Formats: sequence, C-alpha cells, structure tokens
Amino acid sequence: MDLFNRTTAGGTSPAGEKPARAPRRKAAKAPRAAAAATPIEEAAPTAAGLPAEAAPIEAAPAEAIEPAAAGPPARPAIARRRETAESIGKRQRDISVAEFFQKNRHLLGFDNPAKALLTATKEAVDNSLDACEEAGILPDLDIVIDEKAEDRFRLVITDNGPGIVRTQIPRVFGKLLYGSKFHTMRQSRGQQGIGISAAGMYSQLTTGQPVKITSRTGAKKPAHYFEIQIDTTRNEPKVLVDREVEWDRDHGTRVEMELAGLYKKGRRSVDDYIVQTALANPHAAVRYQPPKGDEYHRDRITSELPREPLVIKPHPYGVELGVLISMLRETKGRSLSSALQADFARVSERVAVGICKTAGLRPETRPKALGVQEIEALFRAIPKVKIMAPPTNCIVPIGDELLLVGLKETVKAEFYTSITRPPSVYRGNPFQIEVGLAYGGELPADELVDLWRFANRVPLQYQQSGCAIARAALTTDWRKYGLQQSKGALPAAPMVLFVHMVSVWVPFTSESKEAVAAYPEIIRELRLGLQEVGRRLGGFLRHRRRLAEEDKKKSYIKSYIPHIGIALREILGLTKQDEAKVVEVLTETLERSRTL
Ligand SMILES: Nc1ncnc2c1ncn2[C@@H]1O[C@H](COP(=O)(O)OP(=O)(O)OP(=O)(O)O)[C@@H](O)[C@H]1O
Ligand SMILES: [Mg+2]
Repeated sequence: MDLFNRTTAGGTSPAGEKPARAPRRKAAKAPRAAAAATPIEEAAPTAAGLPAEAAPIEAAPAEAIEPAAAGPPARPAIARRRETAESIGKRQRDISVAEFFQKNRHLLGFDNPAKALLTATKEAVDNSLDACEEAGILPDLDIVIDEKAEDRFRLVITDNGPGIVRTQIPRVFGKLLYGSKFHTMRQSRGQQGIGISAAGMYSQLTTGQPVKITSRTGAKKPAHYFEIQIDTTRNEPKVLVDREVEWDRDHGTRVEMELAGLYKKGRRSVDDYIVQTALANPHAAVRYQPPKGDEYHRDRITSELPREPLVIKPHPYGVELGVLISMLRETKGRSLSSALQADFARVSERVAVGICKTAGLRPETRPKALGVQEIEALFRAIPKVKIMAPPTNCIVPIGDELLLVGLKETVKAEFYTSITRPPSVYRGNPFQIEVGLAYGGELPADELVDLWRFANRVPLQYQQSGCAIARAALTTDWRKYGLQQSKGALPAAPMVLFVHMVSVWVPFTSESKEAVAAYPEIIRELRLGLQEVGRRLGGFLRHRRRLAEEDKKKSYIKSYIPHIGIALREILGLTKQDEAKVVEVLTETLERSRTL
C-alpha cells in the first residue's frame, strides 16, 4: 500500500499520506477502474482527461500501460543520470589482488569464524611442513591456540625449518601472490603464494593487529622479529617493527596472529585437522595445545623423510594454447624443435620433429617468428603425436605400509587395509591415489562412513560434496562388499575411509584448496583404489560372518551333547563312567573342529 501511494502521487507524497490534489487521486483511480472492466482501451479515454503532469501515462502505448492496469499504476518516468564512456572511464583502474580477496575472503576459506580459525592454522602448518621437507629437515611442529575472548584467538605456529631470509619476510607475509612454489611443477602443500598473507590479512581485518614473525636461518645468524600489516590498496607490506632478537632455536620460523574465530570440537574442527595432519605426515612430530582441553602430542612414526619430490617440466598433452604462446615467446630454444625439447617433458628430437611436421611447420623455424595461427596449428598437432607419459618418480605418496601404521595408531578399529595405486596422469600432470580404511572396533556403528580426504598430505575439511574424492566414494557400490548404502550416499558402517591424492599440481576447485576437481582420470583412479579396499573389506566381513555362523551352530550342538550321553547310556546300558567318556569325546571333537 505504501508503494501504491508513493507511485500514484508522483513520488512526492510520503507513505500513508493522502494525495494533496484531486486530479492525482483521479489518476490513481483510473487504472484500477479500468482493470475491473476490460482494460486498456477503456482506460485510455479516462486517462485522456488527466492534467498535464499525468501525460506520460496517457501518451504511453497500450503495452506500456498493461502492467499498470493489472497492478499499481505506472510511475511517471524519472530522468536517469546517464553515464558516458568518459565518466565510466574515469573510474576504471587497477584492482589490487589484496582488495579483491579482502572482499572475497570466502574464496580463500575465511567465510565463517570456525572455518577462519581452521584455515589460518592450516596455512601456517602447511608452510612449515613444506619448508622443513624442502630443506631436508624432519619437522618439529608446535601449534598453540589461546582463547583471548569467546570469539577471538591467538594462534602461534613454530617450526624448525630453514627460516626465511630477512629481506623476504615482509613480502612473504604482507603481499598476496608472492611465494616460491607457484612457478615450479613440484608436489608441495602450497601452490599459489596466497595462503599465509591471506591469513594475515584476515587477522588484520578482524582484529586490527599485525602478524608477528620471528625467523632465523642458522645458528650463526641473528633471529629477526617483524610485525607486518598489508596495505590492501597496493598489495604491499607495511613493516611496523623490524629488529634482531634472542631466540632459543638455531633455525626455524614462528608465526603469531590474532584473529576472530570460533573454536569447536568434532568434525571439521582444528583438532580433527591436527590429528589427520599427523596421520598423513608420519615423519613429523606434532605438539598441539588447543584453547580448551588436553594437549595433543604425536611423536614421529618414522625418522625417514619422504623421498624428495622432483621438479618436472610440463607435459605437452596438458598445455593450453595461451600458455603455449607465451612459452614460445619466452623460450631460450633457437629452433622450434629445440624449444619443444627444452621446455617440455618427454619430447625427444623425433617427437619434436613429428609435432612440427604434423603442424605443417619447419622444425628449424625460429619460435619467436611464429604467428598465433601457426602456434595454434602446433597446438592442434600435439595430441596427434604419440608422446610418452610424463615421469612419475616426481610424486611421493605416503606408502601403504606407513599409512597402515598411522591408521592403526589413530583409529581404534578391528580391520585395517591400505593401498597405493600406481601413478597416473591427468591433463599432462602426474598424480597418484592412496586409499586406506579402518573398520569396526570402537567406531560408531549407526553413522555414515567418516570420509577423510587429503591432497598432498593436507587434510581437506570443507566442500566435501563438490570434491572428486567424495564423488568417487558415493558412486562406488559398497553393497557389493557387504555394507549398507542408500542411493547417492556414503555407506552406513563403523568405518573411516582415508583417501589421498598426490600430484605436482592438485586441481583444486577454488583458491581455498578444499575440494579436488573431478577429472575423469582422477575419478577412475579413485574408484579403482576404493574398489580394491572395498573387496578386501568384503573378504574380511564374509570371513567374520562365516565364523559367527559356525560358532552359533557349534554352541547349539554343544547344548545337545549331555543329552546324547544320557540317551546312549540308556539305549546301550552304559555305565555312568562310559557316559562321561562319550560326552568328553564328543566335546573334544567339537572343540577341535572349532580351532580349525
Ligand atoms: N614457515 C616457513 N618457513 C619457510 N618459508 C616459508 C614459511 N612460510 C612461508 N614461507 C615462504 O613463503 C612463501 C609464501 O607462503 P604462502 O603460504 O603465502 O604461499 P605458498 O605456500 O607458496 O602457496 P599457498 O598459497 O598455496 O599456500 C612460500 O612459498 C615459502 O617460500
Ligand atoms: Mg602456503
């Protein structure tokens, strides 16, 4: 009704007030009356008698009046301020990546307080583990979360890694898209160069506090202490404090930040994340002091560092046209053939010449002289030439044995199994899948299976429904292996399912790195892994059922043995002693078969 009054009064009368002048009231009524009879043609003559200020309605064509006739009357046109290309042009400018992610912090996993606390912890822990492994150091991690208020926490993560050189500290923590991992094709937890600076930006946004860093690169070097904020409009660090300090560690990094958050227990909690991180990193010692409750401490299971993941070149089958264009613009190769051999994996001279010929190009052509159309011809020729799959020794899984030890230590169950699939390739990127499961024991019987997803040894806690790992688990037919499963759901069983993907480049569905994209090759490998552990579980469950049935039969027979003894004594006239002997022999025979 308010809306009606305002529109009919030409936008001048406040809501609920009566229109000031009679002609306006008339104007308001006209269309309503028209709507009651047969509309527009009849309404037109009424409208024709309106004063000049209502003229737009009168002059409007029939189609324009129609909606007004059905509901509230049409509003007189209000002059719009028009933009010009020049006025819009004045507002067009660079967008700082920091400003972009500040507005879109949900893309980085900071969309709610509980998740924000987890994401910040995860970014710092991932970096510490990556740094230790790159430097060949067995990681000692120390994670402390203090509750400053119900919705505010202090997070401190300390590692024994190689440390960070003083000049790099401001940009590592105070600039988004700055890191050492983005440009190399190597298996690591970090990929993008956003993680820790985004956590710092969230801390600054929610508490106004800087990130505090202490880092030392060696016993003979001083430790440096920094307090850093991000200038979001420029995506540049602001150094508030930079000084040398005493530190009891020879080398390593300590990151401290205060942030708005929510601490909770249970699934997708920081506690769960820490336990699962320890499981996927058997070579790390992990100490964790949560804001509430007992300290968690897990010693390393193995003192052997994982094999060093190798850096590889991109495989031609995975390259995109735009990337190929810039590679050929920047190559150091003098001829097209030598550029292809130098910049790609698995391209021998024979393969390079084959690609050039298929594209109708001369192998000796200077790559920088190629036009876009020629490069496109090259791009189209690549899939037509047989090229060996990329090397797979560059990826390092946990290994089924260590995975089994970890599972046994983490989950109290009855049956455990694990499998590491052979390496495979998606879009030219090598990857490998590992699957483990723990069944029975103390695990809750009436719930859906607990699916633990991992990528490059990092637990993935959110966006399960959008993840290839979940999709593969849901579409596996677990009923074949003796479990109950509703259509489109995980099976209901006392079971933890561990699924891990390692790759030189994990195809995450977003920057927050929570779900793996469903490339067909990845789904296929996941299914094969899940089916294998499923078959083993099926075998165990069948065997257990057989034993249970046998036990039932035997106890049934056992209850009859005394009666058989009595009956034989009576029929055959045996002595009490003979009867006892018969009972003894029969019981012994039954027991003997039980141990078979
Ligand atoms: N604890 C640490 N010890 C040593 N170097 C570190 C540490 N934390 C961060 N770095 C360095 O800082 C860089 C930036 O870290 P950041 O988390 O922002 O990005 P990233 O780990 O490369 O990628 P991602 O955004 O996927 O996490 C890293 O690439 C690494 O070189
Ligand atoms: Mg990182």
